[in-house]
Amino acid sequence: MNKYKSLAVALAISCTSAFAQNQKIDKKVDSVLKLMTLAEKIGQLNQYTGDSDATGPITPNPNKLKDIKDGKLGSMLNIKGAKETREVQEYAMQSRLKIPLIFGLDVIHGYRVTFPIPLAEAASWDLAAMEESARIAARETAASGVHWTFAPMVDIARDPRWGRVMEGAGEDTYLGSKIAFARVKGFQGKGLGNLDAVMACAKHFAAYGAAIAGRDYNAVDMSEHTLWETYLPPFKAAVDAGAATFMNSFNTLNGIPATGNAHLQRDILKGKWKYNGFVVSDWGSIGEMIDHGFAKDKAQAAELAILAGSDMDMESRSYLPNLAKLVAEKKVPVALIDDAVRRILRKKFELGLFDDPYRFSNAARQEKELNSPENRKASLSMAEKSIVLLKNENQLLPLSKTLKKIAVIGPLGKSEKDMQGFWSISWKDDQLISLYQGLKNKLGDKTELLYAKGCEIADSSKAGFDEAVAVAKQADVVVMAVGEALDMSGEAKSRAHIRIPGVQEDLIKAVQATGKPVVVLVMAGRPLIFNWTADHVPAIMYTWWLGSEAGNAMANVLFGDYNPSGKLPITFPRDEGQIPIYYNYLSTGRPSKNDKDINYRSAYLDMPNSPRFAFGYGLSYTSFDYSGLTISKNQIHSNDKIVVNFTLKNTGKYDGEEVVQLYLQDKFASVVRPIKELKDFQKVMLKAGEQKNISFIIDKEKLSFYNQALQWVAEPGDFKLMIGTASDNIKLEKDFKLMD
Ligand code: NOJ
Repeated sequence: MNKYKSLAVALAISCTSAFAQNQKIDKKVDSVLKLMTLAEKIGQLNQYTGDSDATGPITPNPNKLKDIKDGKLGSMLNIKGAKETREVQEYAMQSRLKIPLIFGLDVIHGYRVTFPIPLAEAASWDLAAMEESARIAARETAASGVHWTFAPMVDIARDPRWGRVMEGAGEDTYLGSKIAFARVKGFQGKGLGNLDAVMACAKHFAAYGAAIAGRDYNAVDMSEHTLWETYLPPFKAAVDAGAATFMNSFNTLNGIPATGNAHLQRDILKGKWKYNGFVVSDWGSIGEMIDHGFAKDKAQAAELAILAGSDMDMESRSYLPNLAKLVAEKKVPVALIDDAVRRILRKKFELGLFDDPYRFSNAARQEKELNSPENRKASLSMAEKSIVLLKNENQLLPLSKTLKKIAVIGPLGKSEKDMQGFWSISWKDDQLISLYQGLKNKLGDKTELLYAKGCEIADSSKAGFDEAVAVAKQADVVVMAVGEALDMSGEAKSRAHIRIPGVQEDLIKAVQATGKPVVVLVMAGRPLIFNWTADHVPAIMYTWWLGSEAGNAMANVLFGDYNPSGKLPITFPRDEGQIPIYYNYLSTGRPSKNDKDINYRSAYLDMPNSPRFAFGYGLSYTSFDYSGLTISKNQIHSNDKIVVNFTLKNTGKYDGEEVVQLYLQDKFASVVRPIKELKDFQKVMLKAGEQKNISFIIDKEKLSFYNQALQWVAEPGDFKLMIGTASDNIKLEKDFKLMD
């Protein structure tokens, strides 16, 4: 048998066995469903919170425990720990049919070990590392008795006022789809049923990230074309990766709440995409359809939600009291309830909970997994990769380890908690590393570390400035730590002004005036605006919120033990007035060629169009040269491929990684196309002086877009290929033609 034949046979066997396995589970699901009363079925669609805040102790509410025994609950969220989940599961085992509960939790960027916030990780452009970060989070979560994480958030976000930009992969659909795929794979590992895999949940379906004016929970209004082209692909990638569950969203989409939106959930997700997992509502979002003015009461809300395809009611308590009556009144077909229950039971079988409802609640495994030095190591490496070097005049960085005195100045210099970022759930207070501690760990006693806070994060007082300036004057170099507190970006954390909060930028001015070399580290959950700093301070690193190993990672980058390789996954505006701002905007009839070209152009009179820092931008301690672009064909037919080749050379003194970005522009099309779109990338490691040939393939898929009929097509015509180091720094380009 030749190797292709044997591969085909192996594939056929694995497909058949997956099919047989599916059928087996279907049979089991049906056998349980047959035994269930309507009330028990509705119970499976109900989800309560475990009455704990995400980090607090668990105090199960006696009424809820009784509901569990009565078969009125399918899942509980915010309950964690091997012991605690076992205790609650015991109540389910006292119910008539002993159907196990699924425990869910927001494990967004790590469980015990905190990883960088998802937006920061996206800056690494390192898909394998992001998959691994989700893998580790899953291992820790599963070992703590939890079966299900409400992640990844795959919402595209083009508005940094929206606090939840921190939780996603940024503004780009291509990068976001790749990351969605990697994260789902990471959480679910080798598949549900393995003791180190948790169910992923692609959220928030759909278009939640496009909240008008960046105000969380606000309405969303967009064309069907933009929905398909920009906002849906990461969800489709999550389906392709096998995401076990979806969560719908709080927002309305073109006037219809997503939770009651049959077009989204029935036509697209369960229809066109043939999705066979289940959909959980967002917290209370079924009931919130009353506040939207879409349902008059919870009964109608329940009716609209179940008809639209929301399978599980998270905490709105609309399904439990109303669905039976709605079935009796023939407003809701029982077949729809059966379908929702089947989807949920299927996951319980896949997780192995019918075989052993306590299989994830294992104290010994929890103890081992939550104290793993390997997990911390992975968090450190992810944190290093997530840092973006924004400015480095005269090669101020990396710093020398022989400096005598370094001053750490700023309200985040000794902060530990803020480094964890929003959506951190289970950290240990004695395991956090501030910037100051990270520098101490690196430098020991050889270098004297001075410190002044200068001001609080959101302070209006400059009382601490004098001390900060005095400390700066004694130092050889000043490292400043400014930015946001951990609850300034995240859910319900929209901000109209996204400048560095309080008087922190004034503190930077005061310290810079000493004439000492200043390095500013900005620690935040979103792009902030800091024009004065960007114009005047010689070295700036964007460190986001980096998690458990934050301080060590920053120290490694500051002293060159890790050469920064991060690139921005989201555009940084100069001013809130430019928002929404993103690199892949549509061509206009009056394009502005540059920031001076404003006369009757699509431009502002009082502000350049260009961002402060563009999507894809990020520096390294070394430099890269791009040359020798060739393409295998200038004209192709739609079943052909173009092979792209060029040389990338590390021309600097340091070994380093470059994220090479491939953009395309479809120059004329039946729907106006963006001025450029990311269509591929590679992260390439090169030793100092080394050069490599880099290859990409362009095929029909990369040339396709949604036409006016929303068909995914590649239209004949002219294309421009651009290879760059950032979306606004294209190094090589060539035109080619698609013939048919
Ligand atoms: C509301 C958030 O929108 C969602 O992302 C989260 O998973 C749920 N609350 C549960 O905490």
